Amino acid sequence: MNDKNINYVKMESIVSLAKRRGFIFQASEIYGGLAGFWDYGPLGVELLNKLKNEWWKAVVTESENIYGLDSSIIQNPKLWEASGHVSSFTDPMVEDVKNGKRYRADVLAGVDSTNIDELSKLLKDKKSPDGNSLSEPRFFNMMMQTWIGPVQDNSSVAYLRPETAGSIFTNYENVRETMRAKLPFGIAQIGKAFRNEISPRDFIFRVRELEQMEMQYFINPNEQEKTYEFWRNFAWKFLVDRLGISEVNLQWHEHDENERAHYAAAAHDIYFKFPQGFKELWGTHNRTDFDLSNHQRVSGKNLAYFDETTHERFIPYVVESSVGLGRMLLAVLTDAYCEEEINGEVRVVLKLKPELAPYLYAVSPLLKNKPELVSKAREVYELLKKKYEAVIWDDNGNIGKRYRRQDEIGTPYCVVIDFETLEKNTVTIRDRDSTEQKRVSIDEL
Ligand code: GAP
Repeated sequence: MNDKNINYVKMESIVSLAKRRGFIFQASEIYGGLAGFWDYGPLGVELLNKLKNEWWKAVVTESENIYGLDSSIIQNPKLWEASGHVSSFTDPMVEDVKNGKRYRADVLAGVDSTNIDELSKLLKDKKSPDGNSLSEPRFFNMMMQTWIGPVQDNSSVAYLRPETAGSIFTNYENVRETMRAKLPFGIAQIGKAFRNEISPRDFIFRVRELEQMEMQYFINPNEQEKTYEFWRNFAWKFLVDRLGISEVNLQWHEHDENERAHYAAAAHDIYFKFPQGFKELWGTHNRTDFDLSNHQRVSGKNLAYFDETTHERFIPYVVESSVGLGRMLLAVLTDAYCEEEINGEVRVVLKLKPELAPYLYAVSPLLKNKPELVSKAREVYELLKKKYEAVIWDDNGNIGKRYRRQDEIGTPYCVVIDFETLEKNTVTIRDRDSTEQKRVSIDEL
């Protein structure tokens, strides 16, 4: 629940900025949208790509023993039977008995629990948001279903993956063998996942089509505690050091038995201070040998590992690090969002880490109707673009308006070409956070 004593950024402010500046649009907006689906616009996709690159660099590129994967969204449905998702990937649901609208039972009850008896008690005298009676809570499977081929019957049913992890487990042996990998080693994947959420909500926080960044680390069971601690800390450090998120906006949350997913023996989430309250951003789970053992049992393929030094044979344990990309983007926007008063005027500014800002530099001619300024500004723009790529040309409106716009999209530096540039080869460079302007020579940029 949102604690009234804490200052939260307003969700309306984030949604409005995201739309106004081309970060995020409603999917199918001209047809009234579609609940739980969102489109990332020109600036949103830049930010998404930077977050993905940062994560891939930290997890795969900079490590010696973590390998990448990009698997199909649709897999053999036996995968999801073996992983327990067909029987257990459920959320508790209640129905408005009059109009049939469905709600998450735990959300209506205001608790983090999936215990049906507890929810039933808590909801006994509760009404639906429309004021009608509610059904008894029951479980609802969240996997999205489709059919493969021309015949739509039980034999052609398939699922859109509900997590990217599933096909990491089924590729464990392929990766181990082709990379000659010895334990411990990891497999990482970034990709779309789909969940038929009962109540998608809070903008891009809970959606039906999501993108996940997941890494499964395969280990000897006797290393589970040490490995779990390592990946828990990795997530926290990534958010603080790589994304610049303020630590006061983060909290730990350990799952109790009722909250844990069906595959997890231990789970720690990092909660972020989202506009609607402190909520889950990133999970670290000890999945034990749950997945590989089940895949071995159902597929009949031997997935045991033979340790050449100890001569032990065992099914590896897995520690998983799992974060939603959209949720990470919402956290980054919320953390960076500021409203400040400057000279009696309120400005909105995104204080993004410069490495994450969609553009590092905005280049402008002071006046757009002076050809000599425009051509010099073009020269500077080309020069910076070659060096930094993330550079935008901006000659719309007056300089004050350009600064406001660039502040709102988090551009750290605005470079302006004026008459002095033509004489002395210097430009003004304005700092987003301090709003201070300095004159520097073009070579110093
Ligand atoms: N493989 C483990 C797994 O999928 P999860 O806790 O269900 O675990 C991991 O999801 C992360 O994916 C969450 O911490 C969250 O960041 C993101 N996520 C899960 N469901 C989501 C949804 N409906 N919308 C947006 N992000 C979601």
